[in-house]
Amino acid sequence: MTATLNRPETGTGRVVWFTGLSGAGKSTLASALRDDLAARGVAVELLDGDAVRENLSKGLGFSREDRDTNVRRIAFVAGLLAKHGVTVLVSAISPYADTRREVLSALPHPTEVFVDAPLEVVTERDVKGLYLKALAGDLPHFTGVSDPYEAPETPDLHLRTDQISVEEGIRQLLAHLGYGA
Ligand code: PPS
Repeated sequence: MTATLNRPETGTGRVVWFTGLSGAGKSTLASALRDDLAARGVAVELLDGDAVRENLSKGLGFSREDRDTNVRRIAFVAGLLAKHGVTVLVSAISPYADTRREVLSALPHPTEVFVDAPLEVVTERDVKGLYLKALAGDLPHFTGVSDPYEAPETPDLHLRTDQISVEEGIRQLLAHLGYGA
């Protein structure tokens, strides 16, 4: 089983890239997948948007230039880890389609996962209270409200988190990655 994920034939890990709006469920799915894979003995690492911005990308904002820099930094680290056989899970809004295309095409065995919930649903969830602020005009460049989100047109996996449970999302992810039930 691990053979599918870690590709020992090449020694290279794969990169699973979760993209979607804030509050869509990227981190929830990515961390649950990380735990599941780790329990199976897979060498796995999670590069999560919030943690990356506190460390690797500290000081960057949310202009297009800064977001692209952030995404390229994440991809750079993901590539280094994957080179050493680690399965890398990335959770970042990564809103620009051409930047995602650019970084994913340079990564080994990339899987693009569109974590999708309609704007009304993420606004309703508003886990961090940011949509309320953005809709009140107090948060400029907020993705989906005052900044663009370019949804993937042909993601490898499309998960509607307003329609399926976390468990079902993980089941679909594992199946897609070669861990059928
Ligand atoms: S990006 O676009 O990929 O560089 O964004 P990312 O590094 O994933 O960071 C997104 C998290 O930052 C918080 N936040 C904002 N998001 C979008 N737009 C604006 N202006 C913004 N300001 C702060 C937000 O909590 C995102 O977290 P998630 O986990 O996606 O909800």
